Amino acid sequence: MRTQVAIIGAGPSGLLLGQLLSKHGIANIVLEQRSADYVLSRIRAGVIEQGAAELLDEAGVGNRMHRDGLTHDGIEISLGGQRHRIDFQALVGKSVIVYGQTEITRDLMDGRLAAGGQTLYETADVSLHQIEHGRASVRYRSGGVEQEIECDFVAGCDGFHGVSRKSIPEHVLKFYERVYPFGWLGILVDQPPVSAELIYASHERGFALCSMRSRTRSRLYLQCRLDDHIEDWPDGRFYEELRRRLDDNAASALGRGASIEKSIAPLRSFVAEPMRYGNLFLAGDAAHIVPPTGAKGLNLAASDVYYLWQALMEYYREQSTAGLDAYSARALQRVWKAERFSWWMTSILHCFPESSGFDQKMQRAELEYLLSSRAAMTALAENYVGLPYK
Ligand code: FAD
Ligand code: PHB
Repeated sequence: MRTQVAIIGAGPSGLLLGQLLSKHGIANIVLEQRSADYVLSRIRAGVIEQGAAELLDEAGVGNRMHRDGLTHDGIEISLGGQRHRIDFQALVGKSVIVYGQTEITRDLMDGRLAAGGQTLYETADVSLHQIEHGRASVRYRSGGVEQEIECDFVAGCDGFHGVSRKSIPEHVLKFYERVYPFGWLGILVDQPPVSAELIYASHERGFALCSMRSRTRSRLYLQCRLDDHIEDWPDGRFYEELRRRLDDNAASALGRGASIEKSIAPLRSFVAEPMRYGNLFLAGDAAHIVPPTGAKGLNLAASDVYYLWQALMEYYREQSTAGLDAYSARALQRVWKAERFSWWMTSILHCFPESSGFDQKMQRAELEYLLSSRAAMTALAENYVGLPYK
């Protein structure tokens, strides 16, 4: 087989890149190690920046997001049992859309099917060859048979544990990492959200977040220990703990519905530089991870895809490698700003087990300053709704 761009991974970054390329006549094949159903069963992000929403529109898959997604003009921060609103519209004139990653993935899969794009699911042992220069190729096994795809470029969109980043010689990459001493325990439940907007709660027992997927489906998180297991957290214990961390109004609005999904995610900041090696380009979680507190993971995958798509169009339309040559530096500029914001949101809102009395006072002062200063709230709002792509 032969194609122009082989895309590894059918998560949001791989599918979005594929859709944008197909729309502009650039041939591509997506290879995914899991089944489509498995990919759709993973519950992940829920907040979409305006820039990412526009890119989904550009890819022709934004209709359901605009119809079913919820436009949020702000968030609330709860501190000491009091809620404070950060009004994005008043501060920066922008909003975000609350719409699940699962739904975006479904829309992208449907769009790809309608456009006749090729996605190979359940491909085993994907390996990359001759990515340094010249014709690259991707080998994999499907139904026990070895296959090979020749291509001009490989897009590594295969997430943090994927094969793409690992195919780059170690001496080429530099890694930057912080692992946080806690995780997030999340549940999905069919009950209305406790409030119209997301509540980020700072509490001495730990951080909590009340998010949602629709007017009838809530996504709720608790800061938990790294050695916690979901078996330690039956629904009753989850709700009891969440109620303690919320203000009275939110606590009394919280139902007790049975969870339909429950998982624990560790929190990590990670960047691999550069995001290019020869004809291989990394995008999304394959190159970087942010802790979810800033709601940036999926949005950062979208901005990488935007830069890579633009660069590939420039190559095929104008035979210019300028965009491809600039890709890594361009993407990383925005990546580091989102890394900073996600690290900052994480550090002001969570309880750090090793923090000293001084650290705790600093954290409290930072939150009180934030909630009393229009300038500080504007900075939060500007980052939360998403920094510009250009
Ligand atoms: P992924 O979504 O990881 O997709 C990569 C795809 O590549 C996967 O389908 C995988 O199966 C496939 N793949 C991997 N290896 C191979 C291989 N060798 N061959 C072929 N295919 C392969 N972000 C938020 O903003 N808010 C959240 O609440 C949030 N929660 C999260 C919870 C978890 C458990 C995780 C892991 C992430 C979460 N994120 C969250 C981050 C967000 O979901 C990611 O940033 C986003 O999914 C990145 O998209 P991606 O397409 O780059 O990677
Ligand atoms: C979510 O709805 O899953 C969600 C929302 C905001 C975040 C993180 C996760 O910051």
